[in-house]
Amino acid sequence: MKNSITMIDNRTGKSYEFDILEATRGPNVVNISSFFAQTGMFTFDNGYTSTASCKSDITFIDGEKGELRYRGIEIEKLALNHSYLDVCYLLLNSRLPTEQESLEFDLELRHRSFLHEGLRHLFQAFPSDAHPMATLSSATSALSTFYFSHLEICKENEYQEMARRIIAKIPTIAAFAYRHSIGAPFIQPDINRSFTENFLYMLRAYPGGKMHRGVHGEEKIKEIEIKALDTIFTLHADHEQNASTTTVRGVASTGAHPYVAISSGISALWGRAHGGANESVVAQLEMIGSVENVDTYIERAKDPNDPFRLMGFGHRVYKNYDPRAKILKTLQDQLKDELNIDSNLLKIAHKIETIALSDEYFISRKLYPNIDFYSGIILTALKIPTSMFTPVFVIGRTVGWITQWIEFKKDKDAKITRPRQLYLGD
Ligand code: SDX
Repeated sequence: MKNSITMIDNRTGKSYEFDILEATRGPNVVNISSFFAQTGMFTFDNGYTSTASCKSDITFIDGEKGELRYRGIEIEKLALNHSYLDVCYLLLNSRLPTEQESLEFDLELRHRSFLHEGLRHLFQAFPSDAHPMATLSSATSALSTFYFSHLEICKENEYQEMARRIIAKIPTIAAFAYRHSIGAPFIQPDINRSFTENFLYMLRAYPGGKMHRGVHGEEKIKEIEIKALDTIFTLHADHEQNASTTTVRGVASTGAHPYVAISSGISALWGRAHGGANESVVAQLEMIGSVENVDTYIERAKDPNDPFRLMGFGHRVYKNYDPRAKILKTLQDQLKDELNIDSNLLKIAHKIETIALSDEYFISRKLYPNIDFYSGIILTALKIPTSMFTPVFVIGRTVGWITQWIEFKKDKDAKITRPRQLYLGD
């Protein structure tokens, strides 16, 4: 039996044959790269709902089962048993690190977390009410003027160094963007603190690096807060060919600097249909205000004439519960007492979820809570300001973007991204 499909043009009776490429997990693909050459027509796939844009072995998603794997390992195992930095190592190297490699990777990222002094001045150019995502995207693009500006990266050690630099520096840029937005002096990273603790420290510390002194002596950043944020970073680390990753690969395909590709990913992620949803979820829960109002908003979400959407609900791929949302919901239930999670927001979220999961409109469209539905409630409990929710997503996702960028660069068959169109003009 030939591993191909035959398509017949019913207007002419002409048949065309296209090879099937086998996947190791999930759907196989039909190779239609010769479709235009054979038929003189383009295929049309609005929003790429049925289109594979590349070959990859980084992240696997099964939308029907609600399954997510990084380099073949289930997200539940990684979130429960490994640090975010070990997950970064896994994504970059296709295997988890040994204990020694993990220590060395952690230490290298601590040393690389500092920014060139020249970059500090860029932040001053922004108005204090600039959204941190705008500053983050601009400063990340500016990093390209400090590193690898004249180097065609092609050796493994160069890929690794370039990747480790950006993973290490993004939290510092994000923290500086926040500190600028509140008119507070920047807090330099503390190499005695872990990757995740450092981010909370750079957000919260007082000038001179002193933490707020509680009534019983110096208040440490609680272990439970570090673990919760580390898990959130892991859950956001990569997610196959989503909108921002597709943007990063598109910029990679033109040969531009890797850090401007990451900057373009940050810009794409900002939209509320994508990573900006976590910020919108909390704003929406606060707008709904009480469980008594939930029914009204559910009806609005179902009304085709009302642009209101339930933020944090629905997903292009997951037609089942987003496994990351499940993990966050469990984490939230574990933390609600220790982190004093806002019980009103929680009650509203749970009411929305309960109603939506039993309502025909949501069931028929397979709309379930996604990663953004619960992440904002936990971030609020971690005293992370709403404007920093999507920057937190950026910190988690940078390793995914740069890993996908490297995979694109190593792909000998990679081509510049250049889709066609269905022209309807004159
Ligand atoms: C992320 O792709 C990724 O992997 C992204 C991400 C990642 O890790 O990178 O997982 C992160 O972006 C998660 C998604 C965060 N966005 C939101 O929560 C915003 C709210 N959700 C929607 O805007 C929407 O569900 C999308 C954008 C997420 C998915 O949109 P699709 O796949 O293009 O689906 P669609 O818009 O065609 O909707 C299908 C139907 C429509 O109804 P009908 O026209 O068939 O009558 O479902 C309805 C939509 O109106 N619908 C919703 C809804 N989402 C879809 N109705 C109410 N509320 C919603 N949230």
